Amino acid sequence: MPRAIATNRARLRARVLTTYALPPEARAALGDVRLTTYRGRQPILRAALARRLRDVDGLLCLLTDRIDADILARAPRLRAIANRAVGYDNVDLHAAAARGIVVTNTPDVLTETSADLAFALILAAARRVCEGDRLVRAGRWRGWSPDLLLGQDVHGATLGIVGLGRIGAAVARRAQGFGMRVLYHQRRPVPHLPAGATKVALGRLLAAADIVTLHVPLTAATRHLIGARELARMRRGAILVNTSRGAIVDEAALARALASGRLAAAGLDVFAREPHVPRALRARANVVLTPHVASATTATRTRMAVVAARNLAAVLAGRRPPNPVALPAATASVAPPAH
Ligand code: GLV
Repeated sequence: MPRAIATNRARLRARVLTTYALPPEARAALGDVRLTTYRGRQPILRAALARRLRDVDGLLCLLTDRIDADILARAPRLRAIANRAVGYDNVDLHAAAARGIVVTNTPDVLTETSADLAFALILAAARRVCEGDRLVRAGRWRGWSPDLLLGQDVHGATLGIVGLGRIGAAVARRAQGFGMRVLYHQRRPVPHLPAGATKVALGRLLAAADIVTLHVPLTAATRHLIGARELARMRRGAILVNTSRGAIVDEAALARALASGRLAAAGLDVFAREPHVPRALRARANVVLTPHVASATTATRTRMAVVAARNLAAVLAGRRPPNPVALPAATASVAPPAH
């Protein structure tokens, strides 16, 4: 190819910044772009992100990258943001829309994997799996005893699912296999209603469920959806599981509910200020903690990267991406069923 044509073609290729190393499948899905990769082990620093965004057309980012109005104001060429997550509370959708930037996410491919982890936390919290592990590991197990680490039955219990989107529905399907009674709270229509699940108001769900599991996205309307008042409505000895976003729960109120014995246990994969986990939660034996890993299997994380790359490639090619994120109505009082 003559040199002038090659130089022109290079100039025309879209420039893309990725804040994580792409698996080869995702790189292939991205197509012919000029790619800059941030390879640090820690999330990219804001100043570095702003600097690198100055002349890129597309961004592949993670939920740890805060893409707000200030960052976007410094990215004049940016046309597309592909978040490698189903949640997108790290992106200011209104600021992006105001600049004509398309935002995409990665639903569906992580649904079953995330529901697996929610169920793992349900089982671990109810059956005190981590307490047992620590006891044995510390060499403190003195032998079988009829009342050692008594927990609660999961089979036959009542499960309250807050947010019956894709992941909530996948948890409901697992619950059916355990013979659980399933209640759910979801104001928007549910596309794939699992058989046998009963819709109730949030207050009723909290009062009736032995185990409550949260599957709503974080929005202004769902921040601290579960606070002191809601925790006080839960059954004495109930269990709370959160795999959605940490800020859905008032963590200080949760720690108090666990300390007072109102709640028997909690299973938490997400925290309000990650990676900070409040001491009051870390200190409690009856809290199972995982480091935001609900979708963390090799296969699923690879699929998420591929979906993100396909979304970005579509926007850069002037096509509608498979997973555009809709701008929430300013007055929305209910979380959409994204999770
Ligand atoms: C993980 O939390 C995600 O939103 O994909």
